[in-house]
Amino acid sequence: MAAPASAVLDDEPSVAALIAARPQLSMHAFDGLTLEQVPLARIADVLGTPAWVYSAGAMRARLAELKAAMAGLPADVHYAVKANDHLAVLRIMAAGGAGADVVSEGELRRARAAGIPASAIVFSGVGKTEREIRLAITEGIHQLNVESAEELEVISAIASALGGRARVALRVNPDVDAGTHAKITTGTAETKFGIPYDDVPAVYARAAALPGVEPVGLALHIGSQIMSTAPYRAAFARAAEMVRTLRAQGLAVSRMDCGGGLGIGYRDEPDGSPAALAGAMRTAFGGMDLELMVEPGRWLVGPAGVLLATVVLVKGQERFVVLDAAMNELMRPAMYDAWHGIVPLAAGTAVGATTPVDVVGPVCESSDTFARGRALPRLERGARVALLDAGAYGAVMSSTYNGRPLAPIALVDGDRWAVIRERQAHADLWAGERVPEFI
Ligand code: LLP
Repeated sequence: MAAPASAVLDDEPSVAALIAARPQLSMHAFDGLTLEQVPLARIADVLGTPAWVYSAGAMRARLAELKAAMAGLPADVHYAVKANDHLAVLRIMAAGGAGADVVSEGELRRARAAGIPASAIVFSGVGKTEREIRLAITEGIHQLNVESAEELEVISAIASALGGRARVALRVNPDVDAGTHAKITTGTAETKFGIPYDDVPAVYARAAALPGVEPVGLALHIGSQIMSTAPYRAAFARAAEMVRTLRAQGLAVSRMDCGGGLGIGYRDEPDGSPAALAGAMRTAFGGMDLELMVEPGRWLVGPAGVLLATVVLVKGQERFVVLDAAMNELMRPAMYDAWHGIVPLAAGTAVGATTPVDVVGPVCESSDTFARGRALPRLERGARVALLDAGAYGAVMSSTYNGRPLAPIALVDGDRWAVIRERQAHADLWAGERVPEFI
C-alpha cells in the first residue's frame, strides 16, 4: 500500500534559493537554467537525457579556494579519485596542483593516464591486492596508507621481493564519530577501517623494523559529508597525541594525512569550510614539523555537476513525477536517503506555484525515488529538470541495472562545452558476454 506523500518540510529551499546558493548556476528568462554560460537545455537537446554535465570552472575555483585556505600550512591536496574519476576531471585537478588519492589499480592507472605523477599519488583502502601493492611499489607512488597490521606484513614481503622499500603511512582509526550518515562513517571502532588507536605504537615499531617498508607517518579519514569542524578537531588531537607518543619512542614521523570528508550544502546551507578545516589542522599539527596532506573528493567536485532528466509522465493524480533518470544513474538518494535539489530547466516552469510530489525513476525498485513530498512547480510530461550536486559519487556509482546504458557526460567551461563521454550503446551492454556452446 502506498504511503501518502510526506508533508513538505519547512526548511525546504525554493528553486530560487537553490540557484542563489550555487554561483555556477543561473536562471535566464529565455535560456533557462544555465551552468557557467551554457544553457543546460542546449546540452539536453544534443545529448538527450539522462545526461551528466560538469562545470570545469566550478571545479577549478573550488580547488583554488581549498588551496588558498591551506596556504601557510605545509599541506598538499590529494584529490580522492573515487568521487569522480573522469580523465578530464583528473586533468583539471592536476592542472590546479592536486595529486590523487586512489583505492584500486583502476584508479591508479587512471590517475597516471591523466598525467598525475606517481610521486603525487597516495594509495588507500582496506583490501589492496598483491597485484595492486606491486603496481604501487613499481610505479614509485608517494605512499601507501596501510589499514592493518596484517597488510603491513604483506606489503613488506612484496617490497622485499621486489628489492625495494615501500613508503607507508599507518591509517589510525581514532574512534571519533564524524556525525554523518552511518553508511559513510569510517572513523569509529566498529568500522572496518584503519588500525585501532591503541595498537598503533606497536604496529609502527614493527613497521620500522621490517625490511620492506619505511614508515613515514600516519593517515586518518573519519567519514564523508562532515559538516562541522568538531569531529576533525577531535580526530586531529588524537592523531597529534599519537605522533608525540611515537616520537617519544624514538620513531620517525614526518607525514600526516588528514583525510577527506569535507561536506557540501545539498540544500541552501553553506558548504563545509576549508578555512575551518585548515584551522583545525594548524591547531593540532602546527609547529610539529609534519608534512600535511588532505584528500577531499566531494567538496571539490560535488556542486560542479548536475544530472539532467526528462519527465516521462506524471501519474497517480499528479502525485508521482516519473523521470527518465533513475537510481542506476544517481544512487545516492536510494542508498543514503540523500537529498538532491531538483530544478526545472525552463524559466517559466521554475517560477510556478508548487505542490508536493514524489520524484521517481523508472527502475523496478521502490527505492528508485529521488525525492518524496518535494515542493515543485507543476512539471508536465516532457519537462526537463536538473538534479543538483551530482558531481561527486554520481556517474562513478552508476550501473546498467534494468538494461540501462551508462549516460553521457558533457563538460562546460565558460561559454564552451564538449561531450566527454558518449552515451553507451545498447549493444555494448552485452558486448563482453559469451554464450557457451553447451547451452
Ligand atoms: N579518503 C578516503 C580514505 C576515503 O575513503 C574517502 C571517501 C575520501 C578520502 C574522500 O571523501 P570525501 O572528501 O569525498 O568525503 N558514496 C558516498 C561517499 C563515500 C565516501 C567514501 N570514502 C556518498 O555518495 O555520500
